[in-house]
Amino acid sequence: MTERHHDIALDVNGEEVRERVDARTTLVDFLRERLNLTGSHVGCEHGVCGACTVRVDGAIVRGCLMLAVQCDGARVETIEGLSDAGEIADLQSAFTRRNALQCGFCTPGMLLTAQDLLARGGPIGRDDIRAHLAGNYCRCTGYQAIIDAVEAVAQARNGGKE
Ligand code: FES
Ligand code: FES
Repeated sequence: MTERHHDIALDVNGEEVRERVDARTTLVDFLRERLNLTGSHVGCEHGVCGACTVRVDGAIVRGCLMLAVQCDGARVETIEGLSDAGEIADLQSAFTRRNALQCGFCTPGMLLTAQDLLARGGPIGRDDIRAHLAGNYCRCTGYQAIIDAVEAVAQARNGGKE
């Protein structure tokens, strides 16, 4: 082992993970290449597109801007974890029903970011959704269907009907 390598222990989607990582390895590369959690995507690699969004200790972060070593002791959740837990089943269903995805490259990041907003509860309008998703790029859909899907889930979760 060189000084560049570090032993880390973290919780990923509810499972304990212990690995030795290069200090320069980003969180998203670690998740994809070491743990085979390929739902988090790598787009711009400098914090702009949101494709690499994951949750660390309950907050959404850019997986390309965080190093794996920074997650020592942390709780990391990826799209696979949220999906398997059923946490975003309604959101996933709304995205499908309203054609809010085409190639799907942006979708995991969109879902995590939308869920971050929806989990706050209370009334959520289209402007809130636009503002919250402003850091997530989609090259396919033109965004309107994404806003529609998130708005429908916001209304449904607040007791309304989609
Ligand atoms: S790949 Fe991380 S923000 Fe684009
Ligand atoms: S669905 Fe293709 S980038 Fe958003």
